[in-house]
Amino acid sequence: MQTKIEKIDSSSALAVKIIESQQDQSLDFLSFREKLSFANISHPDKKKEWATARFAIHDALKALEVPYPGFFKDEHGKSQAMNGQGFVSLTHTFGFAGAIFHRELPVGIDMDLVREKILKIGFRFLDPAELEFLEKDPFHYTMAWSAKESIFKCQGKRGVSFRENILLEPFEVNAMKIKGRIRGTDFADHHYTVDVRRLENVILTYTIW
Ligand SMILES: CC(C)(COP(=O)(O)OP(=O)(O)OC[C@H]1O[C@@H](n2cnc3c(N)ncnc32)[C@H](O)[C@@H]1OP(=O)(O)O)[C@@H](O)C(=O)NCCC(=O)NCCS
Repeated sequence: MQTKIEKIDSSSALAVKIIESQQDQSLDFLSFREKLSFANISHPDKKKEWATARFAIHDALKALEVPYPGFFKDEHGKSQAMNGQGFVSLTHTFGFAGAIFHRELPVGIDMDLVREKILKIGFRFLDPAELEFLEKDPFHYTMAWSAKESIFKCQGKRGVSFRENILLEPFEVNAMKIKGRIRGTDFADHHYTVDVRRLENVILTYTIW
């Protein structure tokens, strides 16, 4: 299974994997609870996505020499380590799955396929100030969308609106970092820096609290 592992620093690492039809890795490392969750996914493509994201987090943890703790979903849908140590975030999109782990700080990761149709839904997730600086370019829009997803996942609570509560500072289409903040919620005034990578026609973003 093709994997790209990036050790960000001594406390954090991310891994991206290609979702393949045949799995050559074993899922034995999963906790009992995770094995049950996996067994309950009926759609074959969803099963592959879910499993590949878990292989990705397994590989990211290996890069940091952290034993796989098993993860459960909290009431917001965010994965939490079963031993309460460290923070994780997972993502999957057409053909890829990824994961990030940090020993001490909340993290968010997202991957999105760049598609023309995102230009039509900008008004749903962008503030007028963001619509102003973004070029009518699906890459630029997808970067904004993905940065907001990463920020959303990092903070982890449902009910935070992409359009109303997550505001991005102006950035160029070739930017490697995007700055943003959450406003108008209990988490107002937290400022995030989102890292951006391009993997062919997929945008990957991640942020560390
Ligand atoms: C839940 C949500 C974060 C999932 O993102 P997505 O791009 O659809 O899917 P991804 O594959 O990138 O991420 C899925 C992972 O997000 C994680 N996730 C789900 N809820 C989460 C939360 N509240 N916090 C952090 N991570 C979460 C899960 O680990 C999930 O993977 P898993 O099901 O394999 O465990 C997203 O759809 C969402 O709800 N966003 C907020 C709602 C919103 O404002 N949408 C825009 C309106 S225009």
